[in-house]
Amino acid sequence: GTTLAVGAFAQAFPSKPVTFVVPFAAGGPTDLVARQLAEAMRKPLGNNANIVVENTAGAGGTIAATRVARAPKDGYTLLVWHIGMAATDSLYKKKQFSALDDFEYLGAINDVPMTLLGSNKLNANTYRDFEAYIRSNGGKLNLAHAGLGSASHICGLMWQHAVKLDKSMTTIAYRGTGPAMNDLIGGQVDVMCDQTTNTTSQIEGGRVKAFAVTTAKPLSNHPILKHYPSLQEMGLKGFNLTIWHGMYAPKGTPPDVLKKLNDALKVALKDPEFIKRQEELGAIVVTDDRVTPEGHKKFVANEIAKLKVVIDAAGQYAD
Ligand code: MLT
Repeated sequence: GTTLAVGAFAQAFPSKPVTFVVPFAAGGPTDLVARQLAEAMRKPLGNNANIVVENTAGAGGTIAATRVARAPKDGYTLLVWHIGMAATDSLYKKKQFSALDDFEYLGAINDVPMTLLGSNKLNANTYRDFEAYIRSNGGKLNLAHAGLGSASHICGLMWQHAVKLDKSMTTIAYRGTGPAMNDLIGGQVDVMCDQTTNTTSQIEGGRVKAFAVTTAKPLSNHPILKHYPSLQEMGLKGFNLTIWHGMYAPKGTPPDVLKKLNDALKVALKDPEFIKRQEELGAIVVTDDRVTPEGHKKFVANEIAKLKVVIDAAGQYAD
């Protein structure tokens, strides 16, 4: 019968490599969490699982999401994406997928604060200096981001809107904040808002300047990031942005396979080594209640509603 066939399929899963599709370039924060998670999930997935990471960058993550939404419904092609899953819902007028209808939700992975960074070439060392500098400069700055709907884009949008400089800045889209970081270090761009998982070591190494963190409160427990104020403390009332990542399979993937993947994800998120690596970079691995299909889907639906307000306020959309 059908039940037996599905059970037999799940027992054999995985019998070939599982692909984590990452919507941004290698060397950035989404790539980092996917690669660390791939290591942590290998054992719990069983069958001597082989997990490969594929970087399908472009259009703020929507190309990768479309690829996974249309992939075979067998659990071998999974999407590891962040807040863009929710942001692109109202940002993109034409999309090839639906965030809520075209995926099986496996669970959330982590929460990640962001930092507002400047190039070492900028004539400012603190957030107050920086704001004074850009105002005296007529707001002329180049802001790097990873495409419309990326976390760096959403953060940049919120910050420009909050400081009322949205009309004067030039934004430059990269295939990920990994490559964008190289240009910030080189001084080809002036400013970028990016996840602590990509910025902490660069801040520590003095290769970029950190001005502020995007969480409501400063990150007082982190040895490096505790030195920076929150944007809210710097006068940007209500500014509070945390990025989260999640994992998704194509809609219609067999329930037994989904259960195997969800169980393995849960175990991986308890791996002390994975937790330590994430925490060193300012991220927090989520608790079990968010590693359920229902829990994560409810969370994303809520994020879609919240981000729609932010995006409509900025009034900039992607085609
Ligand atoms: C983002 O800005 O959305 C991410 O940092 C992109 C990336 O992972 O490169």
